[in-house]
Amino acid sequence: MSQDHESLENLLSEDRTFPASAQFAAAANAQPDLYARAEKDRLAFWDEQAKSLQWDTPWNKTLDWQPPYAKWFIGGKLNASVNALDRHVSEGRGSRVAFHFEGEPGDTRTITYAELLTDVKKTANALIELGVKAGDRVAIYMPMIPEAAVAMLACARMGAPHSVVFGGFSADALLSRIQDADAKIVITADGGFRKGAAFALKPAVDEALKGKHNVEKVLVVQRTKQETAWTERDVWWHEIVGRQSSEHVAESFDSEHPLFILYTSGTTAKPKGIFHTTGGYLTQVAYTHKMVFDIKPETDVYWCTADVGWVTGHSYIVYGPLINGATQVMYEGTPDTPHKGRIFELIAKYGVTILYTAPTLIRTWMKWGDEFPQAHDLSSLRLLGSVGEPINPEAWMWYREVIGGNRCPIVDTWWQTETGAIMISPLPGVTATKPGSAMTALPGISAKVVDDNAVPVGKGHGGYLILDQPWPSMLRGIWGENERYKETYWSRFEGIYFAGDGAKLDNDGAIWLLGRVDDVMNVSGHRISTTEVESALVSHEAVAEAAVVGAADAMTGQGIVAFVILRGGIEHADGEELNKALRNHVTKEIGAIAKPRQILIVNELPKTRSGKIMRRLLKDVAENRVVGDATTLADPNVMKLISEGLQSAKSED
Ligand code: WTA
Repeated sequence: MSQDHESLENLLSEDRTFPASAQFAAAANAQPDLYARAEKDRLAFWDEQAKSLQWDTPWNKTLDWQPPYAKWFIGGKLNASVNALDRHVSEGRGSRVAFHFEGEPGDTRTITYAELLTDVKKTANALIELGVKAGDRVAIYMPMIPEAAVAMLACARMGAPHSVVFGGFSADALLSRIQDADAKIVITADGGFRKGAAFALKPAVDEALKGKHNVEKVLVVQRTKQETAWTERDVWWHEIVGRQSSEHVAESFDSEHPLFILYTSGTTAKPKGIFHTTGGYLTQVAYTHKMVFDIKPETDVYWCTADVGWVTGHSYIVYGPLINGATQVMYEGTPDTPHKGRIFELIAKYGVTILYTAPTLIRTWMKWGDEFPQAHDLSSLRLLGSVGEPINPEAWMWYREVIGGNRCPIVDTWWQTETGAIMISPLPGVTATKPGSAMTALPGISAKVVDDNAVPVGKGHGGYLILDQPWPSMLRGIWGENERYKETYWSRFEGIYFAGDGAKLDNDGAIWLLGRVDDVMNVSGHRISTTEVESALVSHEAVAEAAVVGAADAMTGQGIVAFVILRGGIEHADGEELNKALRNHVTKEIGAIAKPRQILIVNELPKTRSGKIMRRLLKDVAENRVVGDATTLADPNVMKLISEGLQSAKSED
């Protein structure tokens, strides 16, 4: 906890506030009365938000709450894809651009709402031909290309829940997700472009499908045109989608029909299949996208830099913005290809007005230097957003000054895969923001900071972040793991959702997020569990035991540091090579995002008498701090030995 104390002290001294300009406030979608309206009658408020969607059958009850199970807009029927697409076309907005797509090599596509709808209908027809029916699960493993969004919307259109697996995950990680959801079809691509070269995706699918599964067909988008091995179960997207009819009548689904499953790391090695349903989820993503990003669909160009493989891509590239009829930029590649000003060049090229990105990228830009943003005209920007991890006040100020030219409000948005949509955030034009704070719960949301006994802490105090009222886009469970759902989220405080984050209330009641309080790390805004990396490490033949901690990292928020005990008979001499082999092994087991920053080979791990590894002490070592209280260790000398042994250990990239 020593690090938390340090950040608490720093935060206490932050007293800068930034109200929005009167001009922004006057034109903002969110007006101050929104809070009072939600406060007065929370359910009536959500009813009003839900009415902005197109329902084929209206609901007869707003909420059925049997903790920890919520149902929203009961009896209502709607189709997600109709709300995102058909509605705009039938109301005369078909020629509006939905996506300005920019491939990493510089190829571009402009896709209107009418074109996107046609693509989605044809893809839905192709899925029908491949045997997909409502309720079947479809795994999507794609680069950041428009077909990723098309595939998701086609599944949604047919009521087949999609399970998008981030393209950076390994074959093993893909297989376990395919198995857990029992997917019938996998949609993928030959590959994509990243860091100036084509990478392959299809071989990982082939590798994954060597395992046990019930996948019948693999639908493959041709993106890079690289050599691609082929089996009988494979079907080229352009061949099957290309010859489909562009007519497809969408069916209405129950408000509580599952829309998607998205896996996220928990505190055990097995990822959790977070599942979301339709009516409540769409209501909250559309509402938050409209209010938090102040979207003016006729004039704004909105760009969320997330990958569709994460929840941010689901809620704030696919569902929220499309329901609101936004025009977006979608970019395939990395921010430094072919040069470090690529994102800024694209902002200028497309006249981006709203940018939503992650603190890790903001800090990377800071490191690269102001000359890159300054070389481009960023004057089109009017609003900036941040998500995925706490944003430190320095990065916040830099974002405001250098990217936002001191004129753009910043919305620091706190939420989770589980919450489905933004929960805590300033309302631009209403909230006077503080650098580094997500400020307060949105209208309609109830968040509190509590102590160990679930008692709300006073101003100026820290504790656990909880959500004590159900919200429309809340997860409906963990796929196939009911007990785990109750245990993970609802047992720390009986009947109250515990988010896993620590937070502090400042003297004005603003919320400051302090990071995870469980064994989940946050690396570049990606959640990775310490246990997941530990079990990947011990699956290597050389490793007897492993302990993993997330150590503070100036660039990525946290970096993964592993302490490893080797099996008897393994020579320490080839340490460097072994180190490399272990890091590659983790990449193979989970994916490059979980590759440890540093692996330290040790002879002992600090354990309590009951055998529990004291990660807190390892964290002290990993962060080069004086090791804290070690009196409860079974062997008090262990930390001394570890620290000494590490003096010579050197860190890798
Ligand atoms: C963290 C991403 C501080 C937090 C949308 C949460 C944040 C986890 C913020 C969820 C923020 C997300 N400030 N921390 N603005 N946004 N987090 O599921 O620890 O990938 O629990 O969802 O990211 O990560 P997930």
